[in-house]
Amino acid sequence: MLKNCILTGHRPTGPRHIGHLVGTLEAWAKLQDTHECFFLVADLHVLTTDYAHPERIQDNILNMLADWLAAGIDPQRATILLQSAIPEHAQLSLLLSMLVTVARLERVPTYKEQVKELNLQPSLGLLTYPVLQAADILIYKANTVPVGEDQLPHVELARETARRFNQTYGQVFPEPEPLLSKSARLPGVDNRTMHTSYGNAIYLRDTPEETTRKVMSMYTDPTRIHANDPGHVEGNPVFVYHDVFNPNLEEVEEFKLRYRAGEVGDVEIKKRLAEVLNAYLAPLRERRADFVANPRMLAEILSAGTARARLIARQTIDEVQTCMGLQCQRVSGPESLDPVAGAFC
Ligand code: TRP
Repeated sequence: MLKNCILTGHRPTGPRHIGHLVGTLEAWAKLQDTHECFFLVADLHVLTTDYAHPERIQDNILNMLADWLAAGIDPQRATILLQSAIPEHAQLSLLLSMLVTVARLERVPTYKEQVKELNLQPSLGLLTYPVLQAADILIYKANTVPVGEDQLPHVELARETARRFNQTYGQVFPEPEPLLSKSARLPGVDNRTMHTSYGNAIYLRDTPEETTRKVMSMYTDPTRIHANDPGHVEGNPVFVYHDVFNPNLEEVEEFKLRYRAGEVGDVEIKKRLAEVLNAYLAPLRERRADFVANPRMLAEILSAGTARARLIARQTIDEVQTCMGLQCQRVSGPESLDPVAGAFC
């Protein structure tokens, strides 16, 4: 078993924003120092809600990958893998689905919310979303799963499924522990949760000019009409951002004092915020531009990580199939990636 093994991932739904950066990607990049990390591009999971737009997926994958790499995910030290290119994920999902009841899946909060929101008959794929996610985690025998709060019910399902499997067939899977991201959620420029579909996100791929424009349009304190009205700092996204991105703590404290006293206008605070945010993002943008200019390199990074991961996935499938009384496929070397060479034993 891999020691201290981490698996986590995102659905490639679009470009990453600064909320992803400070909430997740920076934490993932740090974990690479201490853990064996697998970062999953969960393209199959996209289909559970959005299967009718095949033209978007490849572009979204490459854009998300460029964002990950720009944020410090390092293919030399971590394995980046594409879910749909490792059919063993789907295979393990099917096998594990035998151990999970429909009633249990119908109680998963994210499922219930989606069903309400979608206003349609939920698909089987949506219902079994957490089983596929459990397979993503268990196939690498990951012990730790860094996630946001919304994903906790899915990790819990993975834990239960591992336990059920081990009770039935003997110890195979560790029970994966969630690792909750510590940083507070960054609000969007309109003070709602930052979300692609709300149009309130600042993207890693935005130019400095776009970033400045978005910052200047930010929501501030609605109770403050004139620059000399005393303002509220708490819950004011402009100050939330200053706290995260401005390295000059004294300046931030001074802004807060002056804001509360009605001695500084929104424009001055926002202008400075645009500067510090652009400075924070500058090195990342440079790296991102290099990756985007070289899509072939992106594809190679993804396929090398996927090939490495697939060898492990195959071993787990062999073990699981044997446990469940099925035939196993012999795993030898990289040549076993050739489906024709996958001889039966
Ligand atoms: N469901 C996760 C999300 O929407 C993505 C994901 C798929 C995932 N498989 C995973 C996350 C396994 C952690 C572990 O963000």
